[in-house]
Amino acid sequence: MAEHLPKHRILTLIGPPGVGKGTIAELLVKKLGIPHISTGDLFRNAMNGRHVLDKKIGTYMRKNKFVPDSITLPFIFHELTKRKYKNGVILDGFPRTLVQAKALETHAKNTPHVDLAILLNAPTRILQKRLSSRMICATCRTVFNIHSRPPKLRGICDVCGGALVWRDDDKPTVVLQRLRDYKQLTAPIVRFYCTSNRLIQIDADATPKVILHCLIEAIAQKGF
Ligand code: AP5
Ligand code: MG
Repeated sequence: MAEHLPKHRILTLIGPPGVGKGTIAELLVKKLGIPHISTGDLFRNAMNGRHVLDKKIGTYMRKNKFVPDSITLPFIFHELTKRKYKNGVILDGFPRTLVQAKALETHAKNTPHVDLAILLNAPTRILQKRLSSRMICATCRTVFNIHSRPPKLRGICDVCGGALVWRDDDKPTVVLQRLRDYKQLTAPIVRFYCTSNRLIQIDADATPKVILHCLIEAIAQKGF
């Protein structure tokens, strides 16, 4: 497994729901030329599959619960063995628990660990506004926003012409639960990367262009 894993460039985006991890990942892919894995997207794709594992994932996703580490870890480690990640990868939504962060460091001999963790943060009211106005393409999953990234034609994806839909977990009550889960389960990994001097913190209450600019500068300062 380990020989196919990227040698050096593993970068992970951490941050609360709606902060813009997927949006910034998309820009970083173009800038750095390395691919992106969103565990949320992987799980949403898997949840309608027929395999036993897909069905298990679906059970948790439909309840808007974190997929347990015992499922997430083998799933992501298998994904990372693919050749397309051999020169590096931008992780979005993984690791999301301390157990996952530690497992990524140690799961196989000589496995590379995360080089840089990027914490994106913004006030809760901004997160709620972004999530309540997000739409995604039901076909190609491109993300839009009725305020900040509207499609050219209302309800239609600019990329593939598919229908735009709301994400089930963007309902206000579910968003509150996701914010609580983030604070309880994900926030502890920030300290984990901070103590090993691998953390960059970026104010995400800005336009994607400004955020990317700050991020590229911060990444360069870390010698990435
Ligand atoms: P996931 O899909 O990763 O959800 P999330 O972490 O809650 O984050 P989001 O995708 O909702 O937000 P984002 O930060 O990517 O923001 P986006 O760029 O879309 O995970 C879903 C679920 O899967 C989890 O809840 C969990 O159940 C499960 N899961 C996933 N990974 C797991 C793991 N490792 N372990 C266990 N379970 C796991 O932006 C949001 C909106 O704002 C968009 O409309 C966008 O256009 C807009 N926007 C973005 N940036 C800006 C900006 N700067 N200015 C204005 N608008 C902006
Ligand atoms: Mg996302």
